Amino acid sequence: MAVAAHAALADALQHTRDRTLALVAPFSYSELEHVQHPLMSPLAWDLGHIAAYEDLWLVHRHGGGEPVRGDLADLYDAFETPRAVRGEIPFLRGHDVFDYLGAVRERALDVLHDAGPADGTLFEIVIRHEAQHNETMRQTLFLAGLTGGRPRAAPRDADAAEGWIDIPADRFSIGARAGVFAYDNERPRHVVEVPAFRIARRPVTNASWAHFCEGGGYERREWWSDEGWAWKQEYDIVHPEGWTADGRPRDDADRPVLHVSWFEADAFARAHGARLPTEAEWEKAATWSQEPIAQIGEAFEWTSSCFAGYPGFIAHPYREYSEVFFGERYRVLRGSSWATEPRARSLTFRNWDLPQRRQIFAGVRLAKDVS
Ligand code: AVJ
Ligand code: FE
Repeated sequence: MAVAAHAALADALQHTRDRTLALVAPFSYSELEHVQHPLMSPLAWDLGHIAAYEDLWLVHRHGGGEPVRGDLADLYDAFETPRAVRGEIPFLRGHDVFDYLGAVRERALDVLHDAGPADGTLFEIVIRHEAQHNETMRQTLFLAGLTGGRPRAAPRDADAAEGWIDIPADRFSIGARAGVFAYDNERPRHVVEVPAFRIARRPVTNASWAHFCEGGGYERREWWSDEGWAWKQEYDIVHPEGWTADGRPRDDADRPVLHVSWFEADAFARAHGARLPTEAEWEKAATWSQEPIAQIGEAFEWTSSCFAGYPGFIAHPYREYSEVFFGERYRVLRGSSWATEPRARSLTFRNWDLPQRRQIFAGVRLAKDVS
């Protein structure tokens, strides 16, 4: 990537840290250390993990020094210590985790000063990692009912017309261009063929989803995949996560629906004689010069694509970011959400999760074949 100036990187590190600290400031140590939701880490674990990641990549790998707390590496490694056991391990408590964040940051700034940023990639990875965990922590707070979720600001492009955009068949280049920061899974940029398709100008709103619920959306077997139906039955799912007990959205009717699983998104699409877009269709529709899709950045959008490496994929800088998730299990989400830090937003970014997950600020945009 292009060399980002020393001062700009220091500012970005600071800016992201300010956001992290502001997010957790309202909560007591015991709230931070509590497992707020079985799927999510205690917030104090996220904080220690943010510090440990910076300790590894900036202090140790980039700076070549001993990590500040090498003894904590396994505890804060996402693979050594999966989410399900994070409540029981001796992660740093009380003020200690904030001291660790501060101590690592001091050393990382020394490294930036002494060794320079090189091409900036490792600094960018560390900044975006903290930004990603910021969004994860907001998901935890939402699931725990500790925040109201999305602020009541006007949605982006709220006045964009509804309806469909027709996109002709095309060969186009998918993936990140050379010279900009991107994760390994966004490269190599390569040509894909996309047949003609139609895609919704706007994501599905809360009002449309409420209509789907009222119209038997969660009862009509024919709209659900076998796997989706089994999941819905087992967990007694009758509306998106976070709606009132009587099945009403807490959020404005005309804003994009949030906290639906891939299974629900797929059923909603079938109920409307539509389907989810592939990720190639999504990227084409988001980047073509004619009329790009509107309201990107409110909710991540589920696609029909499984998470796989692009042809010629090379893991960088570590296998555990993307490669270990490739395969049939994970579905790709595109775009960004209201909770995504502006620096981390990109039209080539690929998010992913299991089809039953609903903690993501994720919604749906419909697509159709051209018949
Ligand atoms: C890209 C959001 C799927 O949270 O699992 C954070 C980001 N990777 N720390 C995740 C990530 C390592 C990742 N997602
Ligand atoms: Fe992480």
